[in-house]
Amino acid sequence: MKKVIIVGSTGVIGQKIAELLHGQFEIIEVNRSSGQYKVDMQKTEELEAMFKSIGSFDALIATSGYGKWGTIDEHSISDFHDGLNSKLMGQVNLVMIGRKYANPNASFAISSGILAQHPVEGGLSLGMINAAIEAFVRGAAIELKDMTVNAVSPSFAKETMQLMGMDDSTGVPAIEFARLYQQAIESGTSGQIYRV
Ligand SMILES: NC(=O)c1ccc[n+]([C@@H]2O[C@H](COP(=O)([O-])OP(=O)(O)OC[C@H]3O[C@@H](n4cnc5c(N)ncnc54)[C@H](OP(=O)(O)O)[C@@H]3O)[C@@H](O)[C@H]2O)c1
Repeated sequence: MKKVIIVGSTGVIGQKIAELLHGQFEIIEVNRSSGQYKVDMQKTEELEAMFKSIGSFDALIATSGYGKWGTIDEHSISDFHDGLNSKLMGQVNLVMIGRKYANPNASFAISSGILAQHPVEGGLSLGMINAAIEAFVRGAAIELKDMTVNAVSPSFAKETMQLMGMDDSTGVPAIEFARLYQQAIESGTSGQIYRV
């Protein structure tokens, strides 16, 4: 059975991915506070130790990372840095360090988001981070010949809207995003942004 690492497996989308892949893959769950490995993807030494301990693997999915939600007036400079260090560099770390341990033909699927293309008030940090993630994926894909790197760009999950107390009528069930991550790791494409 192929081995997949899911970083962010307890989140709204990650949980659905773990359910979907259950029985099809050997799953290794990674989060800061739970899972087989409790690791902060911002900490490169922790990641090196984790990948060494896991050994080779076939796929890595990241549905993890923070970016500030708030208007420009609510943003400090350090808020930008927090998001860059977490959602952007955390996921870049996973690819950059993970690739040294991955099996040939391994696949990585990391997370961007709709705000890269469709800005809304409050989404400044996340839009900027998402666009950078997509540029990273396209750039890495042309150089990494023996593995694939794709991103999934969720719009807005119904479950997240419910958690935020919003009207969820325009939301997409998280399971639909989960199917895109599976497609991204199984498709053989690289440098693609999967959207729904
Ligand atoms: N949900 C949406 O509607 C939506 C829309 C657009 C884009 N996205 C993007 O899709 C991804 C998944 O979203 P989500 O809503 O499922 O997220 P979520 O519910 O907030 O869950 C985040 C998950 O990542 C883990 N995590 C957070 N920071 C981490 C770190 N530094 N190191 C390791 N694990 C970490 C969390 O567990 P611990 O706290 O235990 O670490 C948790 O399992 C995110 O990148 C998000 O920006 C989501």
